[in-house]
Amino acid sequence: MTAIVIDSVEADSDKPIGDVEILGISGTMSGPVAAPAQPNIITEAYGLFPTPVMRFKIGREFTETESEFFEANRSNPRPNSGNTTSEDRYILRNQEMLDLSQFFQRCIDIYMQEIILPKFPVRPYITQSWMNFTEPGQFHHRHEHPNSYLSGVFYVHGDPDKDRILFSKNNYEQISVPPKNFTIYNSPTWWLPAGTGDLLIFPSRLTHQVEQTVSDSTRISLSFNTFLQGIIGSADELTELVI
Ligand SMILES: [Fe+2]
Repeated sequence: MTAIVIDSVEADSDKPIGDVEILGISGTMSGPVAAPAQPNIITEAYGLFPTPVMRFKIGREFTETESEFFEANRSNPRPNSGNTTSEDRYILRNQEMLDLSQFFQRCIDIYMQEIILPKFPVRPYITQSWMNFTEPGQFHHRHEHPNSYLSGVFYVHGDPDKDRILFSKNNYEQISVPPKNFTIYNSPTWWLPAGTGDLLIFPSRLTHQVEQTVSDSTRISLSFNTFLQGIIGSADELTELVI
C-alpha cells in the first residue's frame, strides 16, 4: 500500500500547553510531540481498510419515457421515515428503466473490477430497487441496507450545491476527541454532493442518511440493492459458497 506523506511536523518539545492540575498535582505540561534531537519529523499516514464509495456520471439527459415514468411513480408515493418512496419496490424491472438498469449494472461491474478484484467468477446482480422523494425540509432517516452486498443511489434530481448524502462510520468510537479540522482520518461522518445524473455505489453495510434538505426543489433518487451470484470464498480455505 502506498503511504501518504501528509506533512512534516516541527518538533516543539519546549512549548507548554498550559498549567494543568491532575489528581490534585499542579504543574506545567509539555507539548505532546516531543523529539528534541529532530527538528523536522517526516510523517506518513496509512489509510488502512478504507470504505470505497464510487461516483459514476451518466452523462446524458433523461429520455421523455424515463421522465414520464419518474413522474408517474412520484404521483403515488408510499410514506417513509422522513420522506416518501415509490410503491414499486422493483422499479428497475420496468421496461422504461431498461437502459438505466443496464448502466447501473455496468457501474457495478466496474466497482468489482476496480475495487474488489475477485479471484473467482462472481457478479452482483440488482435485487430490489425503489425511488425516494424528499420534499424541501424533509429528510431520510439513518440506515443501512441489510441482505445486500453493494448498494447504489442514483440522483434523478438533485442540486449538487444544496443536496448531499451523509455517510457515518460503522464502528463506535469509545474515545471521542473533537478535531479542529476534519480529515478522512478523524471524521465520524462525511458528506458527498448529490447532483442530477450521479450514481454512488458503496458497501451496503455503510450507514447513511439525508439530513433535512435546504433545497427548494424535490430531491428524487433511485436506490437499489444487489446480491452476489457465482463463487464466493475459496474451496481451499473451506469458505466456498457457490450460489
Ligand atoms: Fe439507503
